[in-house]
Amino acid sequence: MTRTILVCCGTGCRANGGMDVSLALTAAVDAAAADANVCCVTETGCSGLCELGPLVRIMPDDIMYYRVRPSDAHDIIQKTVLESEPIERLLFKDSSGNHVLHQADNPFYGHQKKIALRNVGIIDSRSIDEYIAHGGYSALARALEMTSDEIIREVEESGIRGRGGAGFPTGRKWRSAAVLESSPKYVICNGDEGDPGAFMDGSIMDGDPHSVLEGMMIGALAIGAEEGFLYIRDEYIQAVKSMKKAIRAAEKRGLLGESILGTNRKLYFSVVRGGGAFVCGESTALMSSIEGNVGEPRAKYIHSVEKGLWGCPTVINNVETWANIPVIINGGGKKFAEIGTKDSTGTKVFALVGKVKYTGLVEVPMGITLRKLIFEIGGGIPNNRKFKAVQTGGPSGGCIPASLLDIPVDFDTLKEYGTMMGSGGMIVMDDHSCMVEFARYYVNFLCGESCGKCTPCREGLRHMRSILTNICNGYGREGDIELLEMIGSTMIDCSLCALGSSAPNPVLTTIRYFREEYEAHIREHRCPAGVCKALTAFSVNHAVCKGCMACTAVCPTRAIVQLNGGFPIITKSCNGCGSCRDVCRFNAIEAVKGGRV
Ligand code: SF4
Ligand code: SF4
Ligand code: FES
Repeated sequence: MTRTILVCCGTGCRANGGMDVSLALTAAVDAAAADANVCCVTETGCSGLCELGPLVRIMPDDIMYYRVRPSDAHDIIQKTVLESEPIERLLFKDSSGNHVLHQADNPFYGHQKKIALRNVGIIDSRSIDEYIAHGGYSALARALEMTSDEIIREVEESGIRGRGGAGFPTGRKWRSAAVLESSPKYVICNGDEGDPGAFMDGSIMDGDPHSVLEGMMIGALAIGAEEGFLYIRDEYIQAVKSMKKAIRAAEKRGLLGESILGTNRKLYFSVVRGGGAFVCGESTALMSSIEGNVGEPRAKYIHSVEKGLWGCPTVINNVETWANIPVIINGGGKKFAEIGTKDSTGTKVFALVGKVKYTGLVEVPMGITLRKLIFEIGGGIPNNRKFKAVQTGGPSGGCIPASLLDIPVDFDTLKEYGTMMGSGGMIVMDDHSCMVEFARYYVNFLCGESCGKCTPCREGLRHMRSILTNICNGYGREGDIELLEMIGSTMIDCSLCALGSSAPNPVLTTIRYFREEYEAHIREHRCPAGVCKALTAFSVNHAVCKGCMACTAVCPTRAIVQLNGGFPIITKSCNGCGSCRDVCRFNAIEAVKGGRV
């Protein structure tokens, strides 16, 4: 039987030695060539379960190995490929301790539905032939035989809303641009994914660049554009390389250039590298940056579909939205609309990170509950800690507490509860997370990223940062919470762009759901989660302590000493890092009121 060994070489696995595993497997295949001449090694993009990488999947058997090392290569070829014998030590263990052989049976993958990620982790992203072999560019061929109206009708019928954050109906956006007579028109792919902890778009561009190009080509045909730009954040070296290579390959095949597939339609795409400003993810700032100007947003009453890039009609969608388009054209808008919920159709890709057992890239139908996402797919909270909150929507998203774990994940529900879908960052927090410090962290990040053009965002963020810093340091005052709320609502109403109007979300949702934590900081000079160093001291509960000395081994300041059979913490040496608490398996280290204040 012909076997393909898929080696994940996405960013996470690459950092963990995925490329070395690939080389070792190739060498092992060569060494066993006489018997294993029907086996090839393929490097793929992110396979999803980054936490347990590097991942290796053997097809068509669908055997999945985790945390593979180069030294495992020989066994994989000899035992699994040649003798069809699984290697137990490399298999996934489920919550009952059973070994899981097939990827499809792993609960992390079982609840997912892959549309935008359909080829990511399956094909060699560098090969246009592999993309075509998996049905790639068939939607483009179909679209070339459709009228602009027919293409847009499919997209409208699919109900797809932009995956970049705002959730605007994609079909409506395309139609507004298509009806305009003026020329030229442009399509843009927003690949400026700047959220800390997010890697959805980067993984698609790296792992399946042609799906993005094909979506853009169809969009260009629909609105009558002949030029397109992919704006990619500069740090995404792999994604930039991958997209540039894919454009060159598409040009060689006559899919881009003077004549698309021999028709009289022409189309040119190029990559523009973003300079690293978070605000350039905002569509008007992004266009300004492509034009060579400072990446600052402009007022939204001028719609970019009418006056976008260089004042011309422009459709801008994000990476994930474009990657969905070929599936909509091939399968039909109606079929796509059957997935998800009535008003949020299709699937959504999330980067599931933070205090969750299985961090990685997931794609789920819209409407799935947070509980299912975090506990069934993500495996729950590690170290038997308690779930506290999840932040959705990136740095300017809000957080959702445990009492709302059963709400459906869709555009409108998340908004109703004070947060947003954003582009798909999802950060899970356990009970060792301080919600005031969480708000301070993101406000500080956004403060550095605000372009400063409008006063509510620029000054609002600075004031919020200073109030939150004071609260975390024990200098909070009565009235601070109300002041934060007032600044937040002013920013929402008066900021020029979405960065400013969504920036108060982390503050306002933490006040809404965790007000008592703010009050404990301000009134009692206490950080209930034991995170704010100025308000926290640590002590060993000797009734629970087993004397394993794990805490002494990690303490960077040697503040935990062995004395009279116990392990007291010398307060003046302790820097409040909390490492001892994190490492203690018996929960013997307790955070108590103390610290500097
Ligand atoms: S809201 Fe903030 S980022 Fe947006 S324009 Fe105003 S200052 Fe710049
Ligand atoms: S909190 Fe950090 S510095 Fe203090 S005792 Fe624990 S490990 Fe040591
Ligand atoms: S990078 Fe390999 S699973 Fe994500």
